[in-house]
Amino acid sequence: MITVSAPGKLMLLGEHAVVYGQPCLVTAVDRRLSVGVEISGDKSIQINSPGASDTRFVEAAVSEFFKTTKLDNPGLHITTKSEFETSLGFGSSAAVTGATVKALSLVMQKSLTDGEIFDIAYKAVYLVQGLGSGFDVAASVWGGTLYFVTGGKAVEPLAADNMPLIVGYSGVKADTTTMVKMVAEKKKKFPEKVDRIFQAIGKLVNQAKEAMVTGDWGRVGKLMDFNQEYLRDLGVSTQKLEDMISAARAAGAWGAKLSGAGGGDCMIALYPQGIQGKSTIAGAIQEAGGQVIDVGAGAEGVKIEQADNKSV
Ligand code: MEV
Repeated sequence: MITVSAPGKLMLLGEHAVVYGQPCLVTAVDRRLSVGVEISGDKSIQINSPGASDTRFVEAAVSEFFKTTKLDNPGLHITTKSEFETSLGFGSSAAVTGATVKALSLVMQKSLTDGEIFDIAYKAVYLVQGLGSGFDVAASVWGGTLYFVTGGKAVEPLAADNMPLIVGYSGVKADTTTMVKMVAEKKKKFPEKVDRIFQAIGKLVNQAKEAMVTGDWGRVGKLMDFNQEYLRDLGVSTQKLEDMISAARAAGAWGAKLSGAGGGDCMIALYPQGIQGKSTIAGAIQEAGGQVIDVGAGAEGVKIEQADNKSV
């Protein structure tokens, strides 16, 4: 049995625009999902995912892995286990897909680069969802904080240490597909306006990337605030998210915005250094009805947890 784990993710800036070719910034979070794989030799594939009814991503990962590597599937037992609720929007689908591909490469003794793992996992996710930039798959494979362009056209790890990140869950599970389709409809109706928004978001992302590597979190926060205005213009924010974001800002956050597709899931904020700032902002988010989730940014990408296979 080989067990591999991959981190969840949070979008920092650039959601939606990234689907249309603009860059985004994403960070891997220290909540992980693990996948154990062993060869059964009976040609069948058995998937055991306690607490997760959707096994389509694991199935797609298996099928894309064997298709790409042209190896014969000997039969597999696969078990998945998550440290986080799928409802948070931390990217459990991408994490389980990335971890499955890595575990398969180990158990089948097929050496793959991170880029190859990403390509297989992204194809698998796309096969199931039919949309998506792959930023979540990249975070699960490389980890850290990444500057990312759709489909992995650019994947640039950033030295963005000690990110003063605070996360609030809105209590509402977002449906990414619905939100992405809604934005596509809006783009069809108002192509010039929406294109202008996407370009403006792309510029904010590039500026935030520079500010992030110099540790200028005050500036990153301001840029997050601007990003949030554009997301509101796109119609993907909700009253609950707005309340939590306003509360965080009023309590002294450097900046705050929704994270991900919108319509629910999480908001993020950056707090001024000092534990005082963090707890004041956390309290304000809770008072606005949010649930503060304690996560660290820049977590390690896909990695081996346990390998009982002598060949690894
Ligand atoms: C969803 O978390 C982020 C989107 O940009 C979709 C994607 O990039 O795949 C809305």
